[in-house]
Amino acid sequence: MGGHHPKLCELGENKMNIAVIGTGYVGLVSGVCFSELGNRVICVDNNQDKVEMLNAGEVPIYEPGLQELMIANKRAGKLSFTSDIAAAIRESDIIFIAVGTPSLPNGEANLGYVEQVAIEIGTHLESYKIVVTKSTVPVGTNDRVRELIQSISTQPFDVASVPEFLREGSAVKDTLNPDRIVIGTDSERAIQALKKLHRPLTENLIITDIRSAEMIKYASNAFLATKISFINEISNICEKVGADVTRVAEGMGYDKRIGSSFLKAGIGYGGSCFPKDTQALIQIAGQVDYDFRLLKSVVQVNQDQRFNVIRKLEEIFGTLSGRTIAVWGLAFKPDTDDVRDAPAIDIIRYLTEAGAVVKAYDPIATANFRKEVDATSIVWEENPLHAARGADALCVLTEWKEFSQMNLMELASMMSEAIMIDGRNVYNKEQIKASGFQYYSVGRPGLNHAEGKAAAII
Ligand code: NAD
Ligand code: UGA
Repeated sequence: MGGHHPKLCELGENKMNIAVIGTGYVGLVSGVCFSELGNRVICVDNNQDKVEMLNAGEVPIYEPGLQELMIANKRAGKLSFTSDIAAAIRESDIIFIAVGTPSLPNGEANLGYVEQVAIEIGTHLESYKIVVTKSTVPVGTNDRVRELIQSISTQPFDVASVPEFLREGSAVKDTLNPDRIVIGTDSERAIQALKKLHRPLTENLIITDIRSAEMIKYASNAFLATKISFINEISNICEKVGADVTRVAEGMGYDKRIGSSFLKAGIGYGGSCFPKDTQALIQIAGQVDYDFRLLKSVVQVNQDQRFNVIRKLEEIFGTLSGRTIAVWGLAFKPDTDDVRDAPAIDIIRYLTEAGAVVKAYDPIATANFRKEVDATSIVWEENPLHAARGADALCVLTEWKEFSQMNLMELASMMSEAIMIDGRNVYNKEQIKASGFQYYSVGRPGLNHAEGKAAAII
Protein backbone atom coordinates (compact mmCIF):
# COMPACT_ATOMS: atom_id res chain seq x y z
CA MET A 1 0.00 0.00 0.00
CA GLY A 2 1.21 3.48 -0.78
CA GLY A 3 1.06 6.37 1.67
CA HIS A 4 2.29 4.41 4.67
CA HIS A 5 2.97 6.52 7.66
CA PRO A 6 6.57 5.96 8.80
CA LYS A 7 5.33 4.72 12.17
CA LEU A 8 3.91 1.66 10.44
CA CYS A 9 7.34 0.01 10.54
CA GLU A 10 7.48 0.44 14.31
CA LEU A 11 4.29 -1.56 14.62
CA GLY A 12 5.59 -4.62 12.79
CA GLU A 13 4.69 -5.63 9.28
CA ASN A 14 1.21 -6.92 10.07
CA LYS A 15 0.12 -3.85 11.94
CA MET A 16 -1.59 -0.89 10.42
CA ASN A 17 -2.39 2.75 11.02
CA ILE A 18 -6.12 3.16 11.33
CA ALA A 19 -8.50 6.08 11.76
CA VAL A 20 -12.00 5.48 13.04
CA ILE A 21 -14.38 8.40 12.52
CA GLY A 22 -17.19 8.45 15.09
CA THR A 23 -16.66 7.13 18.61
CA GLY A 24 -20.13 5.79 19.40
CA TYR A 25 -20.93 2.17 20.23
CA VAL A 26 -19.47 0.91 16.97
CA GLY A 27 -16.57 3.29 16.40
CA LEU A 28 -15.22 3.23 19.91
CA VAL A 29 -15.49 -0.53 20.33
CA SER A 30 -13.95 -1.18 16.88
CA GLY A 31 -11.15 1.31 17.50
CA VAL A 32 -10.31 -0.17 20.87
CA CYS A 33 -10.36 -3.72 19.50
CA PHE A 34 -8.21 -2.87 16.48
CA SER A 35 -5.66 -1.37 18.88
CA GLU A 36 -5.90 -4.49 21.04
CA LEU A 37 -4.80 -6.45 17.95
CA GLY A 38 -1.64 -4.31 17.87
CA ASN A 39 -2.60 -1.68 15.30
CA ARG A 40 -2.18 2.03 15.89
CA VAL A 41 -5.63 3.59 16.03
CA ILE A 42 -6.74 7.21 16.06
CA CYS A 43 -10.39 7.65 17.01
CA VAL A 44 -12.02 10.84 15.82
CA ASP A 45 -15.21 12.52 16.98
CA ASN A 46 -16.57 15.98 16.30
CA ASN A 47 -18.13 16.02 19.73
CA GLN A 48 -15.40 17.76 21.72
CA ASP A 49 -16.85 16.74 25.10
CA LYS A 50 -16.67 13.08 24.08
CA VAL A 51 -13.07 13.42 22.96
CA GLU A 52 -12.12 15.09 26.24
CA MET A 53 -13.84 12.35 28.24
CA LEU A 54 -12.09 9.65 26.24
CA ASN A 55 -8.74 11.36 26.65
CA ALA A 56 -9.37 11.41 30.40
CA GLY A 57 -9.82 7.61 30.26
CA GLU A 58 -13.59 7.72 30.68
CA VAL A 59 -15.99 5.82 28.44
CA PRO A 60 -19.17 7.78 27.57
CA ILE A 61 -21.24 4.58 27.15
CA TYR A 62 -21.76 1.53 29.33
CA GLU A 63 -20.25 -1.52 27.66
CA PRO A 64 -18.80 -4.41 29.68
CA GLY A 65 -14.99 -4.71 29.43
CA LEU A 66 -14.55 -1.65 27.22
CA GLN A 67 -13.00 0.80 29.64
CA GLU A 68 -10.24 -1.54 30.84
CA LEU A 69 -9.27 -2.42 27.29
CA MET A 70 -9.36 1.21 26.23
CA ILE A 71 -7.16 2.41 29.07
CA ALA A 72 -4.61 -0.38 28.54
CA ASN A 73 -4.22 0.33 24.82
CA LYS A 74 -4.12 4.07 25.36
CA ARG A 75 -1.32 3.61 27.90
CA ALA A 76 0.52 1.36 25.45
CA GLY A 77 0.46 4.24 22.94
CA LYS A 78 -1.64 2.32 20.39
CA LEU A 79 -4.87 4.28 20.84
CA SER A 80 -5.58 8.00 20.81
CA PHE A 81 -8.56 10.32 20.56
CA THR A 82 -8.90 13.59 18.71
CA SER A 83 -11.31 15.94 17.01
CA ASP A 84 -8.66 16.73 14.39
CA ILE A 85 -9.95 14.70 11.45
CA ALA A 86 -7.32 16.08 9.06
CA ALA A 87 -4.43 14.77 11.16
CA ALA A 88 -6.15 11.42 11.68
CA ILE A 89 -6.64 10.99 7.92
CA ARG A 90 -3.07 12.01 7.16
CA GLU A 91 -1.62 9.52 9.63
CA SER A 92 -3.71 6.51 8.61
CA ASP A 93 -3.79 3.88 5.89
CA ILE A 94 -7.34 2.72 6.49
CA ILE A 95 -10.16 5.09 7.46
CA PHE A 96 -13.31 3.63 8.99
CA ILE A 97 -16.54 5.62 8.87
CA ALA A 98 -18.57 4.70 11.96
CA VAL A 99 -20.94 7.64 12.40
CA GLY A 100 -24.68 7.30 13.02
CA THR A 101 -27.30 6.65 10.33
CA PRO A 102 -30.49 7.39 12.27
CA SER A 103 -33.97 7.25 10.77
CA LEU A 104 -35.45 10.20 8.95
CA PRO A 105 -39.15 10.82 9.69
CA ASN A 106 -40.12 8.68 6.65
CA GLY A 107 -38.01 5.75 7.86
CA GLU A 108 -35.16 6.24 5.39
CA ALA A 109 -31.60 6.27 6.76
CA ASN A 110 -30.21 9.75 7.31
CA LEU A 111 -26.92 9.73 5.43
CA GLY A 112 -26.01 13.29 6.39
CA TYR A 113 -23.28 12.27 8.84
CA VAL A 114 -21.72 9.73 6.47
CA GLU A 115 -21.71 12.25 3.62
CA GLN A 116 -20.19 14.93 5.85
CA VAL A 117 -17.34 12.57 6.75
CA ALA A 118 -16.85 11.62 3.07
CA ILE A 119 -16.49 15.31 2.23
CA GLU A 120 -13.95 15.78 5.02
CA ILE A 121 -11.99 12.76 3.81
CA GLY A 122 -11.97 14.20 0.29
CA THR A 123 -10.81 17.55 1.64
CA HIS A 124 -7.88 16.10 3.57
CA LEU A 125 -6.74 13.29 1.28
CA GLU A 126 -3.03 13.58 0.51
CA SER A 127 -2.11 10.02 -0.47
CA TYR A 128 -3.69 6.60 -1.12
CA LYS A 129 -6.17 5.47 1.54
CA ILE A 130 -8.75 2.76 1.94
CA VAL A 131 -12.07 4.27 3.01
CA VAL A 132 -14.25 1.72 4.77
CA THR A 133 -17.88 2.26 5.70
CA LYS A 134 -18.77 0.46 8.91
CA SER A 135 -21.98 2.39 9.53
CA THR A 136 -25.13 0.58 8.41
CA VAL A 137 -25.97 2.23 5.08
CA PRO A 138 -28.44 1.63 2.25
CA VAL A 139 -27.31 -0.12 -0.90
CA GLY A 140 -25.47 2.36 -3.10
CA THR A 141 -24.11 4.52 -0.28
CA ASN A 142 -20.50 3.43 -0.77
CA ASP A 143 -20.80 4.51 -4.42
CA ARG A 144 -22.01 7.88 -3.15
CA VAL A 145 -19.06 8.09 -0.72
CA ARG A 146 -16.72 7.39 -3.65
CA GLU A 147 -18.39 10.09 -5.78
CA LEU A 148 -18.22 12.66 -3.01
CA ILE A 149 -14.52 12.08 -2.39
CA GLN A 150 -13.79 12.07 -6.13
CA SER A 151 -15.65 15.34 -6.53
CA ILE A 152 -13.17 16.98 -4.17
CA SER A 153 -9.88 15.11 -4.52
CA THR A 154 -7.76 13.67 -7.28
CA GLN A 155 -5.77 11.52 -4.86
CA PRO A 156 -6.02 7.72 -5.25
CA PHE A 157 -8.26 5.80 -2.84
CA ASP A 158 -10.48 2.73 -2.67
CA VAL A 159 -13.80 2.24 -0.91
CA ALA A 160 -15.06 -0.82 0.92
CA SER A 161 -18.12 -1.84 2.89
CA VAL A 162 -17.32 -3.75 6.08
CA PRO A 163 -20.60 -3.79 8.04
CA GLU A 164 -20.62 -4.28 11.79
CA PHE A 165 -22.56 -7.05 13.53
CA LEU A 166 -21.75 -6.39 17.21
CA ARG A 167 -24.51 -6.32 19.82
CA GLU A 168 -24.67 -3.74 22.56
CA GLY A 169 -23.94 -5.22 25.96
CA SER A 170 -21.54 -7.77 24.48
CA ALA A 171 -19.87 -5.47 21.97
CA VAL A 172 -16.24 -6.15 22.92
CA LYS A 173 -16.75 -9.90 23.02
CA ASP A 174 -18.62 -9.84 19.68
CA THR A 175 -15.93 -7.71 18.02
CA LEU A 176 -13.08 -9.91 19.16
CA ASN A 177 -14.99 -13.13 18.29
CA PRO A 178 -17.16 -12.33 15.26
CA ASP A 179 -19.16 -15.05 13.46
CA ARG A 180 -17.91 -13.57 10.20
CA ILE A 181 -16.41 -10.45 8.65
CA VAL A 182 -17.99 -9.23 5.43
CA ILE A 183 -15.70 -7.31 3.10
CA GLY A 184 -17.35 -5.70 0.08
CA THR A 185 -15.07 -3.99 -2.38
CA ASP A 186 -13.99 -4.01 -6.02
CA SER A 187 -10.34 -3.33 -5.19
CA GLU A 188 -7.81 -6.15 -4.88
CA ARG A 189 -5.54 -3.87 -2.89
CA ALA A 190 -8.29 -3.16 -0.38
CA ILE A 191 -9.16 -6.87 -0.15
CA GLN A 192 -5.58 -7.75 0.77
CA ALA A 193 -5.27 -5.00 3.39
CA LEU A 194 -8.66 -5.70 4.97
CA LYS A 195 -8.04 -9.44 5.03
CA LYS A 196 -4.76 -8.83 6.85
CA LEU A 197 -6.43 -6.52 9.35
CA HIS A 198 -9.32 -8.88 10.14
CA ARG A 199 -7.74 -12.32 9.87
CA PRO A 200 -6.63 -12.35 13.54
CA LEU A 201 -10.34 -12.14 14.45
CA THR A 202 -11.76 -14.95 12.32
CA GLU A 203 -11.14 -17.20 9.36
CA ASN A 204 -14.69 -16.53 8.17
CA LEU A 205 -13.98 -13.68 5.80
CA ILE A 206 -16.69 -13.17 3.22
CA ILE A 207 -15.31 -11.26 0.27
CA THR A 208 -17.97 -9.84 -1.97
CA ASP A 209 -19.06 -6.83 -4.01
CA ILE A 210 -19.99 -3.58 -2.29
CA ARG A 211 -23.75 -3.74 -2.87
CA SER A 212 -24.06 -7.29 -1.57
CA ALA A 213 -22.09 -6.35 1.55
CA GLU A 214 -24.41 -3.41 2.17
CA MET A 215 -27.42 -5.69 1.72
CA ILE A 216 -26.01 -8.46 3.96
CA LYS A 217 -26.17 -6.08 6.91
CA TYR A 218 -29.81 -5.07 6.41
CA ALA A 219 -30.91 -8.59 5.52
CA SER A 220 -29.27 -9.97 8.68
CA ASN A 221 -30.93 -7.47 11.00
CA ALA A 222 -34.27 -7.84 9.23
CA PHE A 223 -34.10 -11.63 9.51
CA LEU A 224 -33.32 -11.48 13.25
CA ALA A 225 -36.18 -9.03 13.74
CA THR A 226 -38.42 -11.43 11.82
CA LYS A 227 -37.47 -14.28 14.14
CA ILE A 228 -38.42 -12.17 17.14
CA SER A 229 -41.78 -11.05 15.73
CA PHE A 230 -42.47 -14.63 14.66
CA ILE A 231 -41.92 -16.05 18.14
CA ASN A 232 -43.86 -13.17 19.68
CA GLU A 233 -46.88 -14.02 17.54
CA ILE A 234 -46.48 -17.69 18.46
CA SER A 235 -46.42 -16.60 22.12
CA ASN A 236 -49.68 -14.69 21.68
CA ILE A 237 -51.28 -17.83 20.27
CA CYS A 238 -49.72 -19.97 23.04
CA GLU A 239 -51.49 -17.79 25.60
CA LYS A 240 -54.82 -18.56 23.98
CA VAL A 241 -54.31 -22.29 23.41
CA GLY A 242 -52.52 -23.12 26.66
CA ALA A 243 -49.05 -23.90 25.29
CA ASP A 244 -45.72 -22.69 26.73
CA VAL A 245 -43.73 -20.61 24.24
CA THR A 246 -40.40 -21.26 25.95
CA ARG A 247 -40.84 -24.99 25.42
CA VAL A 248 -42.04 -24.39 21.88
CA ALA A 249 -38.95 -22.28 21.12
CA GLU A 250 -36.70 -24.89 22.69
CA GLY A 251 -38.27 -27.62 20.60
CA MET A 252 -37.94 -25.54 17.44
CA GLY A 253 -34.38 -24.47 18.19
CA TYR A 254 -32.98 -28.00 18.17
CA ASP A 255 -33.62 -28.05 14.45
CA LYS A 256 -30.32 -26.80 13.04
CA ARG A 257 -32.13 -25.17 10.16
CA ILE A 258 -34.01 -22.98 12.63
CA GLY A 259 -31.46 -22.47 15.40
CA SER A 260 -32.22 -21.63 19.01
CA SER A 261 -31.13 -18.00 19.18
CA PHE A 262 -33.42 -14.99 18.83
CA LEU A 263 -36.47 -17.02 19.74
CA LYS A 264 -37.09 -15.38 23.10
CA ALA A 265 -40.63 -14.04 23.25
CA GLY A 266 -41.08 -10.79 25.13
CA ILE A 267 -42.28 -7.24 24.63
CA GLY A 268 -40.67 -6.87 21.21
CA TYR A 269 -37.33 -5.65 19.98
CA GLY A 270 -36.06 -2.15 20.62
CA GLY A 271 -32.72 -0.42 20.42
CA SER A 272 -30.98 1.80 17.92
CA CYS A 273 -30.74 -0.88 15.23
CA PHE A 274 -33.61 -3.28 14.52
CA PRO A 275 -36.35 -0.61 14.54
CA LYS A 276 -34.36 1.74 12.32
CA ASP A 277 -32.87 -0.88 10.00
CA THR A 278 -36.18 -2.65 9.34
CA GLN A 279 -37.74 0.71 8.44
CA ALA A 280 -34.77 1.57 6.24
CA LEU A 281 -34.97 -1.75 4.37
CA ILE A 282 -38.68 -1.22 3.74
CA GLN A 283 -37.73 2.15 2.23
CA ILE A 284 -34.85 0.67 0.20
CA ALA A 285 -37.28 -1.85 -1.27
CA GLY A 286 -39.96 0.80 -1.84
CA GLN A 287 -37.54 2.94 -3.82
CA VAL A 288 -37.20 0.15 -6.36
CA ASP A 289 -40.97 -0.40 -6.37
CA TYR A 290 -40.87 -3.48 -4.19
CA ASP A 291 -43.44 -3.80 -1.43
CA PHE A 292 -41.66 -5.70 1.37
CA ARG A 293 -44.89 -7.05 2.87
CA LEU A 294 -43.29 -9.54 5.24
CA LEU A 295 -41.03 -6.96 6.86
CA LYS A 296 -43.86 -4.45 7.18
CA SER A 297 -45.77 -7.05 9.21
CA VAL A 298 -42.71 -7.76 11.33
CA VAL A 299 -42.58 -4.07 12.25
CA GLN A 300 -46.32 -3.91 12.98
CA VAL A 301 -46.25 -7.01 15.16
CA ASN A 302 -43.30 -5.59 17.05
CA GLN A 303 -44.95 -2.24 17.65
CA ASP A 304 -48.06 -3.94 19.01
CA GLN A 305 -46.33 -6.55 21.19
CA ARG A 306 -45.24 -4.06 23.86
CA PHE A 307 -48.86 -3.08 24.48
CA ASN A 308 -49.65 -6.61 25.71
CA VAL A 309 -48.26 -5.36 29.03
CA ILE A 310 -50.82 -2.56 29.06
CA ARG A 311 -53.63 -4.84 27.89
CA LYS A 312 -52.93 -7.23 30.76
CA LEU A 313 -52.88 -4.38 33.30
CA GLU A 314 -56.16 -3.00 31.97
CA GLU A 315 -57.78 -6.43 32.10
CA ILE A 316 -56.79 -6.66 35.75
CA PHE A 317 -57.55 -3.14 36.93
CA GLY A 318 -59.99 -1.70 34.43
CA THR A 319 -58.84 1.91 34.52
CA LEU A 320 -55.22 2.58 35.38
CA SER A 321 -55.92 6.05 36.70
CA GLY A 322 -54.67 6.43 40.27
CA ARG A 323 -52.88 3.06 40.23
CA THR A 324 -49.24 2.82 41.23
CA ILE A 325 -47.26 0.70 38.78
CA ALA A 326 -43.66 -0.30 39.44
CA VAL A 327 -41.46 -0.77 36.37
CA TRP A 328 -38.23 -2.72 36.49
CA GLY A 329 -36.00 -2.21 33.46
CA LEU A 330 -35.84 0.80 31.12
CA ALA A 331 -32.99 -0.17 28.78
CA PHE A 332 -33.99 -1.94 25.53
CA LYS A 333 -31.98 -4.98 26.69
CA PRO A 334 -29.76 -5.87 29.65
CA ASP A 335 -26.13 -4.78 30.04
CA THR A 336 -26.56 -1.49 28.23
CA ASP A 337 -27.56 2.04 29.20
CA ASP A 338 -29.03 2.58 25.73
CA VAL A 339 -32.73 3.41 25.73
CA ARG A 340 -33.11 4.30 22.05
CA ASP A 341 -36.48 2.88 20.89
CA ALA A 342 -36.82 0.92 24.14
CA PRO A 343 -40.31 -0.60 24.49
CA ALA A 344 -40.33 0.86 28.03
CA ILE A 345 -40.67 4.34 26.50
CA ASP A 346 -44.07 3.62 24.93
CA ILE A 347 -45.26 1.62 27.92
CA ILE A 348 -44.37 4.28 30.50
CA ARG A 349 -45.77 7.08 28.33
CA TYR A 350 -49.06 5.18 28.07
CA LEU A 351 -49.18 4.54 31.82
CA THR A 352 -48.59 8.18 32.74
CA GLU A 353 -51.09 9.39 30.15
CA ALA A 354 -53.63 6.95 31.59
CA GLY A 355 -53.16 8.60 35.00
CA ALA A 356 -51.02 5.97 36.71
CA VAL A 357 -48.11 6.79 39.00
CA VAL A 358 -44.99 4.99 37.74
CA LYS A 359 -42.14 4.00 40.04
CA ALA A 360 -39.27 3.19 37.72
CA TYR A 361 -35.99 1.42 38.31
CA ASP A 362 -33.09 0.44 36.06
CA PRO A 363 -29.56 -0.38 37.22
CA ILE A 364 -27.89 2.03 34.78
CA ALA A 365 -30.22 3.42 32.13
CA THR A 366 -32.33 5.82 34.21
CA ALA A 367 -30.38 8.97 33.33
CA ASN A 368 -30.67 8.29 29.59
CA PHE A 369 -34.33 7.33 29.93
CA ARG A 370 -35.20 10.60 31.70
CA LYS A 371 -33.98 12.47 28.63
CA GLU A 372 -36.67 10.62 26.61
CA VAL A 373 -39.57 10.56 29.05
CA ASP A 374 -39.99 12.59 32.18
CA ALA A 375 -43.14 13.51 34.09
CA THR A 376 -44.06 14.45 37.63
CA SER A 377 -46.03 11.20 37.84
CA ILE A 378 -42.83 9.15 37.44
CA VAL A 379 -40.82 8.44 40.57
CA TRP A 380 -37.22 7.48 39.73
CA GLU A 381 -35.98 4.88 42.16
CA GLU A 382 -32.43 3.75 42.80
CA ASN A 383 -33.41 0.45 44.34
CA PRO A 384 -35.74 -2.17 42.83
CA LEU A 385 -37.42 -2.93 46.15
CA HIS A 386 -38.15 0.75 46.77
CA ALA A 387 -39.77 0.88 43.34
CA ALA A 388 -42.00 -2.09 44.19
CA ARG A 389 -42.94 -0.98 47.71
CA GLY A 390 -46.64 -0.15 47.90
CA ALA A 391 -47.19 -0.67 44.14
CA ASP A 392 -50.40 -2.20 42.77
CA ALA A 393 -48.46 -4.12 40.12
CA LEU A 394 -44.89 -4.67 38.96
CA CYS A 395 -43.92 -4.78 35.27
CA VAL A 396 -40.58 -6.33 34.35
CA LEU A 397 -39.50 -4.84 31.03
CA THR A 398 -35.78 -5.72 30.84
CA GLU A 399 -34.26 -9.02 31.94
CA TRP A 400 -31.42 -7.62 34.06
CA LYS A 401 -29.68 -10.43 35.91
CA GLU A 402 -30.31 -8.87 39.32
CA PHE A 403 -34.07 -9.25 38.78
CA SER A 404 -33.81 -13.00 38.42
CA GLN A 405 -32.06 -13.21 41.78
CA MET A 406 -34.77 -11.41 43.76
CA ASN A 407 -36.51 -12.98 46.73
CA LEU A 408 -40.02 -13.03 45.31
CA MET A 409 -41.75 -13.77 48.62
CA GLU A 410 -40.21 -10.68 50.19
CA LEU A 411 -41.06 -8.71 47.05
CA ALA A 412 -44.71 -9.83 47.07
CA SER A 413 -45.09 -8.98 50.75
CA MET A 414 -44.07 -5.35 50.29
CA MET A 415 -46.42 -4.57 47.40
CA SER A 416 -49.92 -3.25 47.80
CA GLU A 417 -51.12 -6.04 45.48
CA ALA A 418 -48.82 -8.92 44.53
CA ILE A 419 -49.38 -8.68 40.79
CA MET A 420 -46.56 -9.06 38.29
CA ILE A 421 -46.50 -8.64 34.52
CA ASP A 422 -43.24 -10.25 33.49
CA GLY A 423 -42.55 -9.00 29.96
CA ARG A 424 -39.36 -11.04 29.62
CA ASN A 425 -40.20 -14.41 31.18
CA VAL A 426 -37.57 -13.89 33.88
CA TYR A 427 -39.06 -16.24 36.48
CA ASN A 428 -39.71 -19.95 36.43
CA LYS A 429 -42.61 -22.01 37.68
CA GLU A 430 -41.03 -22.94 41.04
CA GLN A 431 -40.14 -19.34 41.88
CA ILE A 432 -43.65 -18.17 41.05
CA LYS A 433 -45.44 -20.98 42.83
CA ALA A 434 -43.72 -20.21 46.12
CA SER A 435 -44.09 -16.44 45.81
CA GLY A 436 -47.82 -15.84 46.03
CA PHE A 437 -47.69 -13.56 43.00
CA GLN A 438 -50.58 -13.25 40.60
CA TYR A 439 -48.25 -13.64 37.66
CA TYR A 440 -48.62 -12.96 33.94
CA SER A 441 -45.74 -13.63 31.61
CA VAL A 442 -45.36 -13.97 27.83
CA GLY A 443 -46.78 -17.05 26.14
CA ARG A 444 -46.77 -19.14 29.31
CA PRO A 445 -50.38 -19.22 30.53
CA GLY A 446 -49.80 -22.34 32.63
CA LEU A 447 -47.49 -20.42 34.93
CA ASN A 448 -50.06 -17.96 36.09
CA HIS A 449 -50.86 -18.18 39.75
CA ALA A 450 -54.59 -17.93 39.17
CA GLU A 451 -54.58 -20.20 36.17
CA GLY A 452 -58.23 -20.15 35.19
CA LYS A 453 -58.43 -16.40 35.61
CA ALA A 454 -55.28 -15.87 33.60
CA ALA A 455 -56.52 -17.82 30.65
CA ALA A 456 -59.58 -15.59 30.61
CA ILE A 457 -57.49 -12.44 30.93
CA ILE A 458 -55.32 -13.19 27.97
P1 NAD B 1 -23.59 6.57 17.84
O1 NAD B 1 -24.64 7.58 17.64
O2 NAD B 1 -23.42 5.93 19.18
O3 NAD B 1 -22.16 7.21 17.47
C1 NAD B 1 -21.91 8.00 16.36
C2 NAD B 1 -20.76 8.95 16.69
O4 NAD B 1 -20.35 9.65 15.49
C3 NAD B 1 -21.11 10.03 17.70
O5 NAD B 1 -20.16 10.01 18.75
C4 NAD B 1 -21.03 11.34 16.89
O6 NAD B 1 -20.60 12.43 17.69
C5 NAD B 1 -20.01 10.97 15.85
N1 NAD B 1 -20.04 11.82 14.64
C6 NAD B 1 -21.12 12.21 13.91
N2 NAD B 1 -20.72 12.97 12.86
C7 NAD B 1 -19.37 13.05 12.92
C8 NAD B 1 -18.38 13.68 12.12
N3 NAD B 1 -18.72 14.39 11.04
N4 NAD B 1 -17.09 13.54 12.47
C9 NAD B 1 -16.75 12.83 13.56
N5 NAD B 1 -17.63 12.21 14.36
C10 NAD B 1 -18.93 12.32 14.04
O7 NAD B 1 -23.82 5.47 16.73
P2 NAD B 1 -23.53 3.88 16.80
O8 NAD B 1 -24.57 3.22 17.64
O9 NAD B 1 -22.10 3.65 17.09
O10 NAD B 1 -23.86 3.48 15.30
C11 NAD B 1 -23.02 3.87 14.24
C12 NAD B 1 -23.41 3.10 12.99
O11 NAD B 1 -23.16 1.71 13.18
C13 NAD B 1 -24.89 3.19 12.61
O12 NAD B 1 -24.99 3.17 11.21
C14 NAD B 1 -25.48 1.93 13.19
O13 NAD B 1 -26.63 1.48 12.49
C15 NAD B 1 -24.35 0.95 13.00
N6 NAD B 1 -24.35 -0.16 13.95
C16 NAD B 1 -24.62 0.06 15.26
C17 NAD B 1 -24.56 -1.00 16.17
C18 NAD B 1 -24.90 -0.81 17.64
O14 NAD B 1 -25.04 -1.80 18.32
N7 NAD B 1 -25.03 0.39 18.14
C19 NAD B 1 -24.20 -2.28 15.72
C20 NAD B 1 -23.91 -2.46 14.36
C21 NAD B 1 -23.98 -1.39 13.48
C1 UGA C 1 -28.57 -6.02 16.96
C2 UGA C 1 -27.96 -7.26 16.30
O1 UGA C 1 -28.11 -8.38 17.15
C3 UGA C 1 -26.48 -7.03 15.97
O2 UGA C 1 -25.97 -8.16 15.27
C4 UGA C 1 -26.35 -5.79 15.10
O3 UGA C 1 -25.00 -5.49 14.85
C5 UGA C 1 -26.99 -4.61 15.78
O4 UGA C 1 -28.37 -4.91 16.10
C6 UGA C 1 -26.96 -3.41 14.88
O5 UGA C 1 -27.06 -3.53 13.69
O6 UGA C 1 -26.78 -2.32 15.38
P1 UGA C 1 -28.55 -5.00 19.44
O7 UGA C 1 -29.66 -4.13 18.94
O8 UGA C 1 -27.43 -4.39 20.18
O9 UGA C 1 -27.90 -5.82 18.21
O10 UGA C 1 -29.17 -6.08 20.43
P2 UGA C 1 -29.88 -7.52 20.28
O11 UGA C 1 -29.27 -8.42 21.27
O12 UGA C 1 -29.94 -7.96 18.89
O13 UGA C 1 -31.35 -7.17 20.78
C7 UGA C 1 -32.21 -6.32 20.04
C8 UGA C 1 -33.59 -6.34 20.65
O14 UGA C 1 -34.23 -7.59 20.39
C9 UGA C 1 -33.65 -6.15 22.16
O15 UGA C 1 -34.69 -5.26 22.48
C10 UGA C 1 -33.93 -7.54 22.70
O16 UGA C 1 -34.64 -7.51 23.91
C11 UGA C 1 -34.77 -8.12 21.58
N1 UGA C 1 -34.72 -9.60 21.51
C12 UGA C 1 -33.58 -10.23 21.15
C13 UGA C 1 -35.87 -10.33 21.79
O17 UGA C 1 -36.94 -9.77 22.12
N2 UGA C 1 -35.81 -11.69 21.70
C14 UGA C 1 -34.68 -12.36 21.33
O18 UGA C 1 -34.71 -13.59 21.25
C15 UGA C 1 -33.53 -11.60 21.06
